[in-house]
Amino acid sequence: MCGIVAYLGHKDAQPILVEGLKRLEYRGYDSAGIALLSSSGFRVHKTTGRMNGLEQSLPVDNCDEILGIGHTRWATHGKPTEANAHPHMDFSGKISIVHNGIIENYSTLKKWLQSKGYEFSSETDSEVVANLIGYFFNTENEFDNTTCQSENKFEWSVQQALSELVGTYGLAIMCSDYPDMLIGAKKGSPLILGVGENEFVIASDASAIVEHTTRAIYLSDNEMVTIKGNNFHTKTIDNIQITKTLKDIEFSLEAIELDTYEHYMQKEIAEQPTAIETCLKGRVDIANTRVVLGGLQDQLRDLARTKRIILTGCGTAWHAGLVGEFLFEQIARIPAEVEYASEFRYRNPIIEDGTIVIAISQSGETADTLAAIEHAKERGATVLGMVNVVGSTIARTTDAGVYLRVGPEIGVASTKAFTAQVAVLTMLAIELGRRRHLSYDLSAELLTGLSQLPDKIASVLKQQEHIKQIAKANIDKENWLFLGRGVNYPVALEGALKLKEISYIHAEGLPAAEMKHGPIALITNNMPAVFIATKSSQYNKVIGNIEEVRARGGRTIVIATEGDENIKQYADHLITVPDVTEQLQPIVTVIPLQMLAYHAAVLRGHDVDKPRNLAKSVTVE
Ligand code: AGP
Repeated sequence: MCGIVAYLGHKDAQPILVEGLKRLEYRGYDSAGIALLSSSGFRVHKTTGRMNGLEQSLPVDNCDEILGIGHTRWATHGKPTEANAHPHMDFSGKISIVHNGIIENYSTLKKWLQSKGYEFSSETDSEVVANLIGYFFNTENEFDNTTCQSENKFEWSVQQALSELVGTYGLAIMCSDYPDMLIGAKKGSPLILGVGENEFVIASDASAIVEHTTRAIYLSDNEMVTIKGNNFHTKTIDNIQITKTLKDIEFSLEAIELDTYEHYMQKEIAEQPTAIETCLKGRVDIANTRVVLGGLQDQLRDLARTKRIILTGCGTAWHAGLVGEFLFEQIARIPAEVEYASEFRYRNPIIEDGTIVIAISQSGETADTLAAIEHAKERGATVLGMVNVVGSTIARTTDAGVYLRVGPEIGVASTKAFTAQVAVLTMLAIELGRRRHLSYDLSAELLTGLSQLPDKIASVLKQQEHIKQIAKANIDKENWLFLGRGVNYPVALEGALKLKEISYIHAEGLPAAEMKHGPIALITNNMPAVFIATKSSQYNKVIGNIEEVRARGGRTIVIATEGDENIKQYADHLITVPDVTEQLQPIVTVIPLQMLAYHAAVLRGHDVDKPRNLAKSVTVE
């Protein structure tokens, strides 16, 4: 939702904050700001718009503070204005904070503070946090350091304020009376502490830390870190000392560099052959027709006997879950259903004994998915995670899980994470199938096919120019349909989402057969109908749906299997993909749709990696 970064060390903090916020800008980018602190007080700079606007507004001389905090915003409370941009100060001007999350009781707290004479300069919930800390800090005689174990009144004030908050936060906090101290606190939004050589970086995710240190502490909910000079300690927010393990950040700086690509999305689409190869590596054992998923080894016996699998996630992750639903039923013969995480937790779902819930998430921080996990755990389900970001909240909240292992995904539009989610679900379906009814031969065929997918994806990527021309030929069309059947129906949904979220063209995904039950009324030559018509058990049915569109003057863009001569007569534009076993097709048929959306967005002049109104990780419900 938002990106926060903070630094305390021996280098100039300003450039470190700016570079860190640039790395986090994909988390939110409607306004940005930094605050620096030295013994002569605070220096605060805030702007609406992107990070480059903030960077250009900053002074370059006399910027030698070694302590600072920064924020890049995705507005939740209050419009994207300079007043609502973070950092926020308290009324006394002694406290400065940056916040990621939602304070649900901010309105009550704001009224109470106003009754105490506190004034506010923004519409945000975050400013309430600053003023609440300021209230405790400026209240005389409340803090007695002879009895209280807190480090000092600053830490104590933070703890008092946090105990009043209802909602979620990732916070970095400074106090002008302690220019050698930085506090971070976490509940429901991610916060990581990078521990370097006499320097510390606090950030929403590791991409803002990795160029300073690869040693990190992942805070859990209701935990805080107090950094003072060259030392730090971790506590619960109710002041109980805790020991946290220093972990290695599992990706390098180059993994988050743009290299020669124009956009992260372009890079991440192109990376998919190697990303899927890495995702499969060491897990697909063709010789023994087995799958090795280390993170699930203790769960596989129960999983193989489960009566039902519920998959849950949001957006692209939900689309991957729908593919998983098909695969668990077709390959493993296990009843499965996919649920929107945001609906699941309010639907009073029936979760009987033996139900397994699989939560799918690239970021591992999506609030709706986290809430669904908590709900499922309360009802006794075993909850597994399929997550990309190592150490993320979902990875640490689920009972067990599988990492996607495709490296950081920066582009807001998810691409390599989707194909990896489907790959992991496919592996799991095969392994469970092998432990139930799946034949040796079909297991071997599926595993062999899976291992060949990286090369098949690579061959689709070679059609870049051809796909770009198709996007160009249809760039003026404001409404598109995406249609597929069976395991390619979720791919149609995913293709529609990709186009919508980065080109702002309205698009709808449908089961191809559903078109005749209403949407066919929309068909004109001005509405491209994208069909996935690869060789499959429903190929002839899809051809029939294509003919229904063409009979009404509709324009068709068809994804078909290489060598299919028959299909040419039905396609105004034809994109071919290699022949792949039907159950494995989604990982290949989605690639041209990703590319189509990418080129449409570029041709329309949009910021592909930071589309309007969106954020990479939606950490609010
Ligand atoms: C996908 O392109 C979107 N950016 C969005 O739908 C995303 O998939 C969704 O917000 C879930 O995110 P997650 O996988 O990080 O949980």
